[in-house]
Amino acid sequence: MKIAPSILSCDFSRLGEEIVAVKEGGADWIHVDVMDGHFVPNITIGPVVTRGARHSTDLPLDVHLMIENPEDYLQSFAEAGATFMTVHAEVCTDLATTVNQIHSLGVKAGVAINPETGLEAIASVLGELDLLVIMSVNPGFGGQAYIPRSTEKVAEARGLLDQYRSSAELEVDGGVDDTNAAALQAAGASVLVAGSAIYGHPDGPETGVKTIREALLS
Ligand code: DX5
Ligand code: ZN
Repeated sequence: MKIAPSILSCDFSRLGEEIVAVKEGGADWIHVDVMDGHFVPNITIGPVVTRGARHSTDLPLDVHLMIENPEDYLQSFAEAGATFMTVHAEVCTDLATTVNQIHSLGVKAGVAINPETGLEAIASVLGELDLLVIMSVNPGFGGQAYIPRSTEKVAEARGLLDQYRSSAELEVDGGVDDTNAAALQAAGASVLVAGSAIYGHPDGPETGVKTIREALLS
């Protein structure tokens, strides 16, 4: 199981140190939440801060684009050092073309779906995906409560990926912590994103990562 701390909940005055801390705690990827104030009602990180994150670590950067017209920004985030770029199925009129565009930039391609979006939305690109992201909160803000029915959706997504013999990573994003991590693992997730549970941990982000790791089934 990979753990991908979301820097959305970190102290941005100390971005480099906050990234080093989670790596020391055993983080596998760094999750970068990009929001545009249109697709979601919040504005966060752009390519400039993504590049700063890139310079702070050699861990894969998992760039989650919660933006309209993602096609217009893929090159900027690729140049900023993204390892994965994830677009939302809800905003892509031609998902297969967008996924191809990500691949042609030399970046791994992800697609995310909101809690209200069915898995059929990603059917056309299942064979091409490197990463499928199941949103377990409505995107826009860190620190929201996990939507319990997401666990079942993760299990369905796992079934679908296995049926298509896809080796894509299956990521869960939103409200993940040490109370639901093991159930998500059992449902077939391969990557857990956590922001507030890690960066808001009273003993610091390094312990935050370890706490989720320890909650997993061995
Ligand atoms: C939600 C973001 C998530 C989220 C993770 O819009 O995509 O990555 O902020 O943070 P927590 O773990 O606090 O829900
Ligand atoms: Zn995210």
